[in-house]
Amino acid sequence: MIYLDNAATSFPKPLSVAEAMGDFLANEAVNPGRSGFDLSLKAGARIDTLRHRLAQYFNHPTHDPNRVIFTNNATEALNIAIQGVCNPGDHIVSSVLEHNSVLRPLFELQKAGISHDLAPCDERGFVDPESIESLLKPETRLVVMTHASNVLGTVQQVGKIGALCQSKGILFLLDSAQTAGVIPVDMAAMGADMLVFTGHKGLMGPTGTGGLLVADNIDIKPTRWGGTGVRSVVRGHLEEYPYRLEAGTLNTVGLAGLDAGLDWLLTSEAGEIETELSAHLLKGLAEIPSIQVVGLEKGETDLVSAHRTTVLSILIEGTNPAKVGMFLDVEWDIAVRTGLQCAPLVHEAMGTADGGTIRISPGPFNTLREIDTLLEALVSFK
Ligand SMILES: Cc1ncc(COP(=O)(O)O)c(C=O)c1O
Repeated sequence: MIYLDNAATSFPKPLSVAEAMGDFLANEAVNPGRSGFDLSLKAGARIDTLRHRLAQYFNHPTHDPNRVIFTNNATEALNIAIQGVCNPGDHIVSSVLEHNSVLRPLFELQKAGISHDLAPCDERGFVDPESIESLLKPETRLVVMTHASNVLGTVQQVGKIGALCQSKGILFLLDSAQTAGVIPVDMAAMGADMLVFTGHKGLMGPTGTGGLLVADNIDIKPTRWGGTGVRSVVRGHLEEYPYRLEAGTLNTVGLAGLDAGLDWLLTSEAGEIETELSAHLLKGLAEIPSIQVVGLEKGETDLVSAHRTTVLSILIEGTNPAKVGMFLDVEWDIAVRTGLQCAPLVHEAMGTADGGTIRISPGPFNTLREIDTLLEALVSFK
């Protein structure tokens, strides 16, 4: 199979990730920090080290490892953050680019009296920070934005949006699900009060990993309560981070894999490989008259100057994307993602809501030859 759906989850994972998880399961998988015996302390220390690494990797404003909260995925982290800072009567500003992991919590919270407005995007798939500003109200509590669209790969001006929020005293929550491990994500420089990441995409970790980094002065109210392994006598849930937002046993085996994924990433040339593959892909697509890359001019092949990651969406004139996806799968064993990719409103904005797009997202284990095979397959589609 030629796997070109890395925006959904990266695959394959580096072998070292599988090895680290196997090794952890075989030798270390006791409950971390819950007990005083050596192995439990070792497992706890491993988790703490990873918190430390991630605080540095994302440049948390004070690098405080206790402000790195582990969750099962980005969706859970977004829910914890959004629900944990907003109260009835509050207003949230976000954008049409968002994934359903933001949109659905916002729609759900309307029922609790928390309203929202969504900034539009332009025809290339960018949100103007001024349109975010124009939606702010006295009761706006939170701005939540994706760093890059999971449909178009367009990298947003989140630094400007963060600065705007800081100047107005409004919380800024940044969703880095599509950028963590792909391009630099600098929480301090971007003015993010809260940063959500997922472990199973660009960071090369396994599914079931993700998290939330919280700046020092932000208090998120817990929406889950339970065991933390420490100070069991206390009746209520612990207030200090990270326990405040973590309840129950962590996915330690997954986190061992995420740690190994980060190791691999920091010594690999993943970014360079993906950029080369995408440039090759875009050049090839430009030569197929019936194909349009959504949000780009025909023949535009420089993703860096177009401010995009390597995720891109295409259309074949006069054809339903699902048909193309089926053809690529059945006839060529090529895996892409068709449809709305869990982000319906960006498709409405780009005029692709009827059937969606064919999303192609290469990863570091793809080859130029595989991209050539994809191009050959697309040319042969009738
Ligand atoms: C922009 C964006 N945010 C959030 C998510 C949700 O990530 P997870 O699957 O880790 O919950 C995704 C997943 O595709 C995404 O692309």
